[in-house]
Amino acid sequence: MTINFDREVFAHRHNGPNQESIKNMLEVIKADSLDKLIDETIPEGIRLQKPLDLPKALSETEFLSEFKKLAEKNKIYKSFIGMGYYDTLMPNVIKRNILENPGWYTAYTPYQAEIAQGRLEALINFQTTVSDLTGMELANASLLDEGTAASEAMSMLYGQRKGKKRKEADVFFVSELCHPQTIEVLQTRAEPIGVEIQVGNHKELDVTDPRLFGILLQYPASDGSVEDYTNIIAAAHDNDVFAVVAADLLSLTLLKAPGEMGADVVVGSSQRFGVPMGYGGPHAAFFATQEKFQRKIPGRIIGVTQDAEGKPAYRMALQTREQHIRREKATSNICTAQVLLGVIAGMYAVYHGPEGLKKIASKVHGLTKLTKAGLEKMGVTVETDVFFDTITVEAEIAKVRKIAEEHEVNFRYRDDNRIGISFDEAKNLEDAELILNIFAKALGKNNEFDVYSEANTTTVELPEELTRTSDYLDHPVFNLYHSEHEMLRYMKRLENKDLSLVHSMISLGSCTMKLNATAEMIPVTWPEFGQIHPFAPREQAKGYTQLFDELNDWLCEITGFAGMSLQPNSGAQGEYAGLMTIRAYHNSNGDNHRNVGLIPSSAHGTNPASAVMAGMDVVVVDTDDYGNISYEDLEAKAEKYSDRLAALMITYPSTHGVFEHKVKDFCEIIHKHGGQVYMDGANMNAQVGLTSPGEIGADVCHLNLHKTFCIPHGGGGPGVGPIGVAKHLVPFLPSHSVIKTGGEKGVTAVSAAPWGSASILTISHAYIRMMGGNGLTDATKIAILNANYLKDRLKDHYEILYTGKTGRSAHEFIVDLRPFKQSAGVESVDIAKRLMDYGFHAPTMSFPVPGTLMIEPTESESQEELDRFCEAMIFIRKEIQEIEDGISDKEDNVLKHAPHTQRVMISDKWDRSYPREKGAFPLEELKFEKFWPAVSRVDDAYGDRNLVCSCIPMEAYEEGIEVVE
Ligand SMILES: Cc1ncc(COP(=O)(O)O)c(C=O)c1O
Repeated sequence: MTINFDREVFAHRHNGPNQESIKNMLEVIKADSLDKLIDETIPEGIRLQKPLDLPKALSETEFLSEFKKLAEKNKIYKSFIGMGYYDTLMPNVIKRNILENPGWYTAYTPYQAEIAQGRLEALINFQTTVSDLTGMELANASLLDEGTAASEAMSMLYGQRKGKKRKEADVFFVSELCHPQTIEVLQTRAEPIGVEIQVGNHKELDVTDPRLFGILLQYPASDGSVEDYTNIIAAAHDNDVFAVVAADLLSLTLLKAPGEMGADVVVGSSQRFGVPMGYGGPHAAFFATQEKFQRKIPGRIIGVTQDAEGKPAYRMALQTREQHIRREKATSNICTAQVLLGVIAGMYAVYHGPEGLKKIASKVHGLTKLTKAGLEKMGVTVETDVFFDTITVEAEIAKVRKIAEEHEVNFRYRDDNRIGISFDEAKNLEDAELILNIFAKALGKNNEFDVYSEANTTTVELPEELTRTSDYLDHPVFNLYHSEHEMLRYMKRLENKDLSLVHSMISLGSCTMKLNATAEMIPVTWPEFGQIHPFAPREQAKGYTQLFDELNDWLCEITGFAGMSLQPNSGAQGEYAGLMTIRAYHNSNGDNHRNVGLIPSSAHGTNPASAVMAGMDVVVVDTDDYGNISYEDLEAKAEKYSDRLAALMITYPSTHGVFEHKVKDFCEIIHKHGGQVYMDGANMNAQVGLTSPGEIGADVCHLNLHKTFCIPHGGGGPGVGPIGVAKHLVPFLPSHSVIKTGGEKGVTAVSAAPWGSASILTISHAYIRMMGGNGLTDATKIAILNANYLKDRLKDHYEILYTGKTGRSAHEFIVDLRPFKQSAGVESVDIAKRLMDYGFHAPTMSFPVPGTLMIEPTESESQEELDRFCEAMIFIRKEIQEIEDGISDKEDNVLKHAPHTQRVMISDKWDRSYPREKGAFPLEELKFEKFWPAVSRVDDAYGDRNLVCSCIPMEAYEEGIEVVE
């Protein structure tokens, strides 16, 4: 036997099928070879002519050791910068069992509630944490960042203008004491929708100004000062002006809640609840408001409902309000949010409980108080009187900075010799002493303040009107799990209720639920990436700079574009950023009137929603009977709106899973009429290495790194949505006012942090580095093979909608379930729920065509797993046949009662028309290995009628759902 001395090839682990399987599968689909299949699938005219020019693939071991060297180029200084980002002590039990646990991070957005009860409960905990601490009636299950959350509040309230203000009010006032990045993100969002942002001193604000419809105040303010906003909010309300407060959650354990001051909306970031700074993200922002706005809230809200047995169950509430349905009428384009980070923040509150959180907040406050006293004793002027964790002092920056950096300490340096100092839970008395010593040395003074002895007599003394008196987090969930064992078991209990990629394939079309390899995930929790403040000096973040540069280059090579922005922190945010870049380009050419966005009817709902946010009028382009964009309609509409044409948005391959042959012609028409082509890159998994957005003629595209480039979905986020652009658009790429980045004429920031969710870019970097150009190209080919194999195995049992001219699909395909409604009374939802009984998550339901399933297996699934899925689908078809043939009852059958829970199965009561075994174990192997859905089918309508969005009494689990009045 010869010995093979080659290194491990990562691509062989990433891709599911081995050579033997590939051969078998090609036989089944009657393709001569993998390359022949690709030739039959992707039009020749758009194929790349040369292989991807990317560095040679590394093995997992090689990658991790090379990447460690890159990581070490980041220098971890102690951060006292504040500005909404704080060092944290992430509880290890949460780090290992959630953040580093694929059982949590590989789950999908909890659309299939019955197999998502764990993360739904975790998100209810998050919502309860937010609504309790802010003093508001309800909160959503996270937004992208604080700046975006503030912008969402502005947009929502703009749509809710009251009284006389309905029409003429178009000014949103922002206190100059808000964080600068929040102000900038707001300015970017406001201009295209016709809102004017006025930044100023809120103490001088004229709330009677008829143009004013809303105000934003920061609490505590960016400079650290804390004041009671009750009066200004009341005055605003007297004038039909809404008030938004951007608040710090930890401070609210000690400070009066903004809800008690009358705020209409409270936004902020939950980062300091155990989530590392990560050079800017990802973190869960929050949005809390009053019940009267419940149907207007952006993002997802988790609610309580009942299942088919009348037992409490969680699910995403008010789903019909989502942008997928509302399209250009949506006020927000939010889709992927920050679920995993919301889960972590909620768990942090569960672990510490109200007393623990208060203790942390008191310590943080105490350290600030001691530092202030010490500095004042030294003769330094501290301008902040009432504060929580931040003070602003006057001192010569040049002197202080030099000494501080020698001690590896970062402060916030303001323009006018004012220095901000912010404390967090990771700091101790030694750190307060260190600061005093730094100032003493820098200013040539003596530090005569003994922080240790003073600490013994330091107490929390806040002005009475600002002191929190109301209770919070008194629900048992926040008071039961404070020992590590209890916490560990609680989290495990929730995890066990959820189906994720650790159980079986999740073939969600358009979502690309591929492998999130362990080696890709390991660096995410390295401190060299986690403990860097986004506004730390760039020379301390050289590792990050290298990471960004390399990733930019590689993504440019893959997309065929000239420049990238890594700032957008979701796909939809990428759409908005890309369209804003196009807008800036047109404006710079004097074409400010170009504001029509052509969008095919088959587009994802975020496309029209983003276009409206970028100031465009949406004009819908028809699709033909084959799911292709109608050439004639596109040509006619481009002609009609020629003068005003801004952009066409297309998804390629199409949302119907087909490589349209005329795509280059579409681009040509648009360019001829002076428009730009935006390609939605959600389906890049069918392009990498074979074709590219640049090749087809697009000008901009976003990439969902949480699809094609392996960032896990985290149960609904985090995501990253960088945009690539052609050369003429590079100067307009998003910039940032705090840390310079982006094009020289760049649009202002679209995200709070300069590089968005920087710390998870490590995952995509790792994927590309370990796959190399050939590995990535092979992955695309296998993704197409897997889809065609599944399609051909299912085509005799189900009708397949839309395939290319040669009968091939791209990386996904659509199964038509509509005929079963007529023949058996079975709907797509019944099949989706029945799949759970077989241990599978349903494919994408009813997008882009109602009553269908869109299946995308990805390259990471083996032939065996694909066969298991086929077997389940084919068996379900037989179950439908039994109804069609009158063997099974039309109402009382395994599909209508799906999913089957353990409780129902072992209950003494069984009055259904089919045997128990048929319900729970339709296939023999399920008797040996079975994933049990935690609840029976949830009742969505009931939950929407009776909206409850926070933790329910524990007794409800035993007694039924009476909690809902
Ligand atoms: C085709 C398409 N476009 C855009 C998006 C939005 O991306 P994100 O959820 O990252 O905001 C999706 C999300 O699933 C999608 O499938």
